[in-house]
Amino acid sequence: MTTRTLTLTDALYGYLHSVGWRESDNLVTLREMTAQRSDANMQIAPEQGQFMALLVQLLGARRIIEIGVFTGYSTLSMAEVLPEDGYILACDVNPESTGIARRYWQAAGVDGKINLQLAPALETLNNVLTDGEAGTFDMVFIDADKSSYDDYYECCLKLLRPGGLVILDNMLWSGRVADEGGDADTDALKVMNRKIHQDERVDMVLLPLADGVTLARKR
Ligand SMILES: C[S@@+](CC[C@H](N)C(=O)[O-])C[C@H]1O[C@@H](n2cnc3c(N)ncnc32)[C@H](O)[C@@H]1O
Repeated sequence: MTTRTLTLTDALYGYLHSVGWRESDNLVTLREMTAQRSDANMQIAPEQGQFMALLVQLLGARRIIEIGVFTGYSTLSMAEVLPEDGYILACDVNPESTGIARRYWQAAGVDGKINLQLAPALETLNNVLTDGEAGTFDMVFIDADKSSYDDYYECCLKLLRPGGLVILDNMLWSGRVADEGGDADTDALKVMNRKIHQDERVDMVLLPLADGVTLARKR
Protein backbone atom coordinates (compact mmCIF):
# COMPACT_ATOMS: atom_id res chain seq x y z
CA MET A 1 0.00 0.00 0.00
CA THR A 2 1.05 3.59 -0.43
CA THR A 3 -0.02 7.05 0.71
CA ARG A 4 0.81 8.58 -2.67
CA THR A 5 -0.35 7.88 -6.23
CA LEU A 6 1.22 4.80 -7.78
CA THR A 7 3.56 4.96 -10.74
CA LEU A 8 1.79 3.07 -13.53
CA THR A 9 3.92 0.38 -15.15
CA ASP A 10 2.81 -0.87 -18.57
CA ALA A 11 1.56 -4.08 -16.93
CA LEU A 12 -0.50 -2.15 -14.37
CA TYR A 13 -1.89 0.19 -17.04
CA GLY A 14 -2.86 -2.87 -19.09
CA TYR A 15 -4.65 -4.34 -16.08
CA LEU A 16 -6.41 -1.02 -15.48
CA HIS A 17 -7.51 -0.99 -19.10
CA SER A 18 -9.14 -4.41 -18.60
CA VAL A 19 -11.19 -3.61 -15.48
CA GLY A 20 -10.97 0.14 -14.81
CA TRP A 21 -13.61 1.59 -17.11
CA ARG A 22 -16.20 0.75 -19.73
CA GLU A 23 -16.00 2.25 -23.20
CA SER A 24 -18.82 2.05 -25.75
CA ASP A 25 -18.24 0.51 -29.21
CA ASN A 26 -18.63 4.00 -30.74
CA LEU A 27 -15.90 5.40 -28.49
CA VAL A 28 -13.57 2.46 -29.22
CA THR A 29 -14.05 2.92 -32.99
CA LEU A 30 -13.39 6.67 -32.78
CA ARG A 31 -10.32 6.19 -30.54
CA GLU A 32 -8.85 3.55 -32.85
CA MET A 33 -9.40 5.74 -35.91
CA THR A 34 -7.89 8.78 -34.16
CA ALA A 35 -4.87 6.69 -33.08
CA GLN A 36 -3.87 6.40 -36.76
CA ARG A 37 -3.38 10.17 -37.06
CA SER A 38 0.00 11.84 -36.53
CA ASP A 39 -1.61 14.24 -34.03
CA ALA A 40 -3.38 11.46 -32.08
CA ASN A 41 -1.81 12.54 -28.78
CA MET A 42 -4.24 15.50 -28.73
CA GLN A 43 -7.06 13.15 -27.71
CA ILE A 44 -7.79 12.59 -24.02
CA ALA A 45 -7.17 9.13 -22.54
CA PRO A 46 -10.16 6.74 -22.37
CA GLU A 47 -10.02 6.63 -18.54
CA GLN A 48 -10.34 10.42 -18.51
CA GLY A 49 -13.32 10.22 -20.85
CA GLN A 50 -15.10 7.79 -18.56
CA PHE A 51 -14.18 9.86 -15.49
CA MET A 52 -15.72 12.94 -17.12
CA ALA A 53 -18.81 10.95 -18.14
CA LEU A 54 -19.26 9.91 -14.52
CA LEU A 55 -18.90 13.56 -13.45
CA VAL A 56 -21.66 14.51 -15.91
CA GLN A 57 -23.89 11.91 -14.27
CA LEU A 58 -22.92 12.84 -10.69
CA LEU A 59 -23.60 16.53 -11.36
CA GLY A 60 -26.82 15.77 -13.21
CA ALA A 61 -25.38 18.08 -15.88
CA ARG A 62 -27.62 19.16 -18.77
CA ARG A 63 -25.65 22.11 -20.20
CA ILE A 64 -21.94 21.70 -20.95
CA ILE A 65 -19.29 23.80 -22.71
CA GLU A 66 -16.32 22.08 -24.35
CA ILE A 67 -13.34 24.12 -25.54
CA GLY A 68 -11.20 21.95 -27.85
CA VAL A 69 -13.04 19.22 -29.78
CA PHE A 70 -10.41 17.70 -32.15
CA THR A 71 -11.97 14.43 -33.50
CA GLY A 72 -14.69 14.53 -30.87
CA TYR A 73 -13.73 11.79 -28.38
CA SER A 74 -14.20 13.86 -25.20
CA THR A 75 -17.44 15.34 -26.59
CA LEU A 76 -18.79 11.87 -27.36
CA SER A 77 -17.82 10.56 -23.90
CA MET A 78 -19.96 13.27 -22.29
CA ALA A 79 -22.77 13.30 -24.89
CA GLU A 80 -23.37 9.55 -24.47
CA VAL A 81 -24.48 10.02 -20.86
CA LEU A 82 -26.27 13.35 -21.22
CA PRO A 83 -30.08 13.16 -21.12
CA GLU A 84 -31.92 13.52 -24.45
CA ASP A 85 -32.53 17.23 -23.83
CA GLY A 86 -28.89 17.77 -22.81
CA TYR A 87 -26.74 20.33 -24.64
CA ILE A 88 -23.02 20.64 -25.38
CA LEU A 89 -21.67 23.88 -26.81
CA ALA A 90 -18.55 22.53 -28.55
CA CYS A 91 -15.89 25.07 -29.58
CA ASP A 92 -13.08 24.52 -32.07
CA VAL A 93 -11.42 26.21 -35.05
CA ASN A 94 -10.47 23.16 -37.13
CA PRO A 95 -13.01 22.11 -39.80
CA GLU A 96 -11.01 18.99 -40.77
CA SER A 97 -10.83 17.25 -37.37
CA THR A 98 -14.31 18.38 -36.32
CA GLY A 99 -15.67 17.05 -39.64
CA ILE A 100 -14.60 13.62 -38.40
CA ALA A 101 -16.13 14.39 -34.99
CA ARG A 102 -19.48 15.21 -36.59
CA ARG A 103 -19.52 11.88 -38.48
CA TYR A 104 -18.90 9.86 -35.32
CA TRP A 105 -21.44 11.86 -33.28
CA GLN A 106 -24.03 11.14 -35.99
CA ALA A 107 -23.16 7.42 -36.01
CA ALA A 108 -23.60 7.36 -32.23
CA GLY A 109 -26.93 9.21 -32.48
CA VAL A 110 -25.86 12.06 -30.17
CA ASP A 111 -25.34 14.84 -32.75
CA GLY A 112 -28.67 16.44 -31.76
CA LYS A 113 -27.21 17.28 -28.34
CA ILE A 114 -24.10 19.02 -29.74
CA ASN A 115 -23.85 22.58 -31.08
CA LEU A 116 -20.43 22.84 -32.78
CA GLN A 117 -19.18 26.40 -33.17
CA LEU A 118 -16.23 26.79 -35.55
CA ALA A 119 -14.65 30.03 -34.33
CA PRO A 120 -12.04 31.08 -31.78
CA ALA A 121 -13.51 29.84 -28.49
CA LEU A 122 -13.16 33.18 -26.73
CA GLU A 123 -15.36 34.76 -29.41
CA THR A 124 -18.01 32.05 -28.94
CA LEU A 125 -17.93 32.36 -25.13
CA ASN A 126 -18.25 36.16 -25.26
CA ASN A 127 -21.23 35.83 -27.62
CA VAL A 128 -22.91 33.43 -25.21
CA LEU A 129 -22.28 35.85 -22.34
CA THR A 130 -23.71 38.73 -24.39
CA ASP A 131 -26.77 36.58 -25.12
CA GLY A 132 -27.48 36.53 -21.37
CA GLU A 133 -26.46 32.93 -20.61
CA ALA A 134 -24.29 33.70 -17.57
CA GLY A 135 -24.92 31.24 -14.71
CA THR A 136 -26.72 28.70 -16.95
CA PHE A 137 -24.08 25.99 -17.54
CA ASP A 138 -23.35 22.99 -15.30
CA MET A 139 -19.92 21.94 -16.54
CA VAL A 140 -17.04 23.16 -18.72
CA PHE A 141 -14.13 21.21 -20.21
CA ILE A 142 -11.11 23.31 -21.24
CA ASP A 143 -8.70 21.51 -23.60
CA ALA A 144 -7.41 23.96 -26.24
CA ASP A 145 -4.61 26.54 -26.66
CA LYS A 146 -2.81 26.84 -23.33
CA SER A 147 -2.08 30.57 -23.61
CA SER A 148 -5.84 31.28 -23.45
CA TYR A 149 -6.62 29.04 -20.46
CA ASP A 150 -6.87 32.03 -18.10
CA ASP A 151 -9.34 33.86 -20.39
CA TYR A 152 -11.39 30.66 -20.85
CA TYR A 153 -11.40 30.06 -17.07
CA GLU A 154 -12.62 33.59 -16.28
CA CYS A 155 -15.35 33.50 -18.94
CA CYS A 156 -16.47 30.04 -17.90
CA LEU A 157 -16.70 30.96 -14.22
CA LYS A 158 -19.25 33.57 -15.31
CA LEU A 159 -21.13 31.06 -17.48
CA LEU A 160 -21.32 28.37 -14.76
CA ARG A 161 -24.02 28.18 -12.12
CA PRO A 162 -22.89 28.04 -8.47
CA GLY A 163 -21.89 24.40 -7.87
CA GLY A 164 -20.90 24.04 -11.54
CA LEU A 165 -17.61 22.45 -12.49
CA VAL A 166 -14.63 23.56 -14.59
CA ILE A 167 -12.39 20.73 -15.80
CA LEU A 168 -8.99 21.75 -17.18
CA ASP A 169 -6.82 19.32 -19.13
CA ASN A 170 -3.02 18.98 -19.41
CA MET A 171 -2.34 20.65 -16.07
CA LEU A 172 0.77 18.48 -15.48
CA TRP A 173 1.92 18.94 -19.13
CA SER A 174 3.93 15.68 -19.31
CA GLY A 175 5.60 16.69 -16.03
CA ARG A 176 7.10 19.90 -17.42
CA VAL A 177 5.24 22.13 -14.93
CA ALA A 178 7.62 20.86 -12.21
CA ASP A 179 10.73 21.96 -14.16
CA GLU A 180 12.54 25.29 -13.84
CA GLY A 181 11.86 27.62 -16.76
CA GLY A 182 9.97 26.35 -19.80
CA ASP A 183 8.26 27.62 -22.93
CA ALA A 184 5.22 29.90 -23.12
CA ASP A 185 2.68 27.06 -22.84
CA THR A 186 4.43 25.58 -19.79
CA ASP A 187 4.54 29.03 -18.17
CA ALA A 188 0.84 29.59 -18.87
CA LEU A 189 -0.03 26.27 -17.20
CA LYS A 190 2.18 27.01 -14.18
CA VAL A 191 0.44 30.38 -13.77
CA MET A 192 -2.97 28.67 -13.97
CA ASN A 193 -2.02 26.01 -11.43
CA ARG A 194 -0.89 28.68 -8.95
CA LYS A 195 -3.92 30.85 -9.65
CA ILE A 196 -6.53 28.09 -9.21
CA HIS A 197 -4.78 26.81 -6.07
CA GLN A 198 -5.27 30.25 -4.49
CA ASP A 199 -8.65 31.07 -6.04
CA GLU A 200 -11.21 31.52 -3.23
CA ARG A 201 -14.06 31.42 -5.79
CA VAL A 202 -13.66 27.65 -6.26
CA ASP A 203 -13.05 24.35 -4.47
CA MET A 204 -10.33 22.51 -6.37
CA VAL A 205 -8.14 19.46 -6.86
CA LEU A 206 -5.44 18.72 -9.44
CA LEU A 207 -5.59 14.99 -10.15
CA PRO A 208 -2.62 13.01 -11.55
CA LEU A 209 -4.98 11.42 -14.09
CA ALA A 210 -3.73 11.16 -17.68
CA ASP A 211 -1.85 14.46 -18.34
CA GLY A 212 -3.17 16.12 -15.16
CA VAL A 213 -6.81 17.09 -14.72
CA THR A 214 -7.91 19.99 -12.53
CA LEU A 215 -11.44 20.08 -11.15
CA ALA A 216 -12.62 23.48 -9.91
CA ARG A 217 -16.13 23.74 -8.46
CA LYS A 218 -17.65 27.22 -8.48
CA ARG A 219 -18.68 28.25 -4.96
C1 LIG B 1 -6.01 18.87 -27.42
S1 LIG B 1 -7.12 19.13 -28.75
C2 LIG B 1 -8.68 18.71 -28.03
C3 LIG B 1 -8.82 17.22 -27.79
C4 LIG B 1 -10.23 16.77 -27.50
N1 LIG B 1 -10.73 17.32 -26.27
C5 LIG B 1 -10.28 15.25 -27.45
O1 LIG B 1 -10.35 14.66 -26.38
O2 LIG B 1 -10.17 14.62 -28.53
C6 LIG B 1 -7.16 20.88 -28.84
C7 LIG B 1 -8.16 21.46 -29.86
O3 LIG B 1 -8.25 22.86 -29.60
C8 LIG B 1 -8.51 23.51 -30.82
N2 LIG B 1 -8.17 24.94 -30.67
C9 LIG B 1 -6.94 25.52 -30.68
N3 LIG B 1 -7.05 26.85 -30.53
C10 LIG B 1 -8.37 27.13 -30.42
C11 LIG B 1 -9.12 28.31 -30.24
N4 LIG B 1 -8.55 29.50 -30.13
N5 LIG B 1 -10.46 28.22 -30.16
C12 LIG B 1 -11.09 27.01 -30.27
N6 LIG B 1 -10.42 25.84 -30.43
C13 LIG B 1 -9.09 25.90 -30.50
C14 LIG B 1 -7.65 22.75 -31.84
O4 LIG B 1 -8.16 22.93 -33.15
C15 LIG B 1 -7.75 21.31 -31.32
O5 LIG B 1 -8.75 20.60 -32.02
